[in-house]
Amino acid sequence: MAKADASKLDWNNLGFEYMDLPYRYTAHWKDGDWQDGGLTDNSTLPLNEAAVVLHYGQGAFEGMKAYRTPDNKIQLFRPDRNAARLRNSAERLLMPVFPEDKFVEAVKQVVKANADFVPPYGTGATLYLRPLLIGSGSTIGVHAAPEYTFTIFAMPVGSYFKGGMTPVNFTTSQYDRAAHKGTGQSKVGGNYAASLLPGEKAHKDGFADCVYLDPVEHKKIEEVGSANFFGITKDNVFVTPKSPSILPSITKYSLLWLAEHRLGLGVEEGDVFIDQLDRFKEAGACGTAAVISPIGGLEHNGNLHVFYSETEVGPVTKKLYDELTGIQFGTVEAPEGWVQVV
Ligand code: PLP
Ligand code: COI
Repeated sequence: MAKADASKLDWNNLGFEYMDLPYRYTAHWKDGDWQDGGLTDNSTLPLNEAAVVLHYGQGAFEGMKAYRTPDNKIQLFRPDRNAARLRNSAERLLMPVFPEDKFVEAVKQVVKANADFVPPYGTGATLYLRPLLIGSGSTIGVHAAPEYTFTIFAMPVGSYFKGGMTPVNFTTSQYDRAAHKGTGQSKVGGNYAASLLPGEKAHKDGFADCVYLDPVEHKKIEEVGSANFFGITKDNVFVTPKSPSILPSITKYSLLWLAEHRLGLGVEEGDVFIDQLDRFKEAGACGTAAVISPIGGLEHNGNLHVFYSETEVGPVTKKLYDELTGIQFGTVEAPEGWVQVV
């Protein structure tokens, strides 16, 4: 694959696609320690056929973004949270933890080395970063790998869901992506492999993606395959599901805080029953890639429940979006410690 050329990119029309950028960071773990990591221009990972990640899925990843500000600085949004979540994912899959301070430093190195690919302010596009930790050592019994590889690569991206802040429709899935006490809280590859078939089915049926229900009874909303769910009740409470099988979204917890402290809404993390959608006047999907994607309608058992509108964005969702993206792009004052300049 040819290396990407920043001078040929149309910043206003980027999708969410892989690009082979000039630099990525890699580090290897063996004999009980992380060896010195650094930048490389090699975008391929050498793996033996018995590498544990290939057979037994011992791998976890993160998703984060670098933002260009109006004064041409580049900043990261809560990178310490991604470092902490990768720690949790690593511990769940019995992988060595990549030190959290080194994680943030390595992210900054990758952003600086690929600075030409951080989209200009005003295009809405960002540099998406994909930290990845895998069991790269070989074994054929079901055991943790003897060696690990950590890498962070990057690519400029536009919206994840078509149209960005345009409402999209979702459908509930008959499948589960993660078990009640399984790996739903961790950002591990297996959860996403399990979501491919239900996601494809939803797309074929004309939906942006599917919403998973709780794996125990299929009565409560869990999350979307690539984002968390939130709803705004008719009496202005920001509600988001609480469950052991969903990913703790950094965007969701940021919105929860902003809803309470900047928008003066009530906030609640709790049960969201699929047969009680009438309580919401607006709903959305949120995440790093998705940012906020307003949910126009949610189909369940053949009935489409429309929240605010299938074509217009609700006013509370819009305010949340403006506050969040304003902080990320440096035009709205960030709460203490939320942004780090690269
Ligand atoms: N849920 C899932 C399954 C995801 O893949 C993501 C994306 O990272 C999210 C939620 C949103 O998490 P965050 O806001 O930390 O990106
Ligand atoms: C993210 O939002 O960073 C994600 O990881 C979601 C998806 C692209 C898997």
